[in-house]
Amino acid sequence: MKKRLSKALAGAGVASRRKCEELIFAGRVAVNGMGVLEPQMLVDATDSLSVDGQVLPKEETKVYYLLNKPVGYLCTNVRLKGGARIVLDLFTHIPYRLFSVGRLDQDTSGIILITNDGHFANRVIHPSYQVSKEYLVKTSMEITDEHLKILSRGTSIQGVHVKPLAVHKVRKGTLKITVGEGKKHEVRTLIAKAGLNLLELTRIRIGSLLLGTLPPGGYRELTHSEIKSFM
Ligand code: URA
Repeated sequence: MKKRLSKALAGAGVASRRKCEELIFAGRVAVNGMGVLEPQMLVDATDSLSVDGQVLPKEETKVYYLLNKPVGYLCTNVRLKGGARIVLDLFTHIPYRLFSVGRLDQDTSGIILITNDGHFANRVIHPSYQVSKEYLVKTSMEITDEHLKILSRGTSIQGVHVKPLAVHKVRKGTLKITVGEGKKHEVRTLIAKAGLNLLELTRIRIGSLLLGTLPPGGYRELTHSEIKSFM
């Protein structure tokens, strides 16, 4: 992705954006060996930036994937010998230090974002940005109005009262639930407290990103506008 030269220098840790602009105006910055005096010049990861003739180490290219996590995979970066498969096993051919943005339980499937951009991850998971997540819940029981009422009231998790943003029945034993908090086992706890058993839990949406028709284990790159929608 292209960004302004002053921002790229600041992102590489040279100085604040303002100071970087001063460096550029002072003629101390070059792009691909050519002196540049415009902080607004657009550069990307392929460009070589230097200050006072010193080439800056290249910022790692940032990558963003939307994965349909299969049941059975763990969201962790630690591979235990002989342990369960982890979502990063699906990305071993990608040459970046990837991690999952938040977590899904081992038995939960569905949409999870995989990236090497910590700033982006924070924008998706930090509660202050209020990115909602929607789950499809399958139970073997007939969902009643009473179940829906109890679910809507919420419950206490880790000492905090957690209330879903929306709950609605799709059909006899299937409902959709939208949450904003992202507490550990939040949906499972809500479902159990409502007296429902859980057959399947699938996350189908994060913010405006939909799981769509990706098969389990399938993934795709996010588009620029999808990445921007979180920044
Ligand atoms: N809530 C849960 O209980 N489990 C998940 O995997 C995600 C949300």
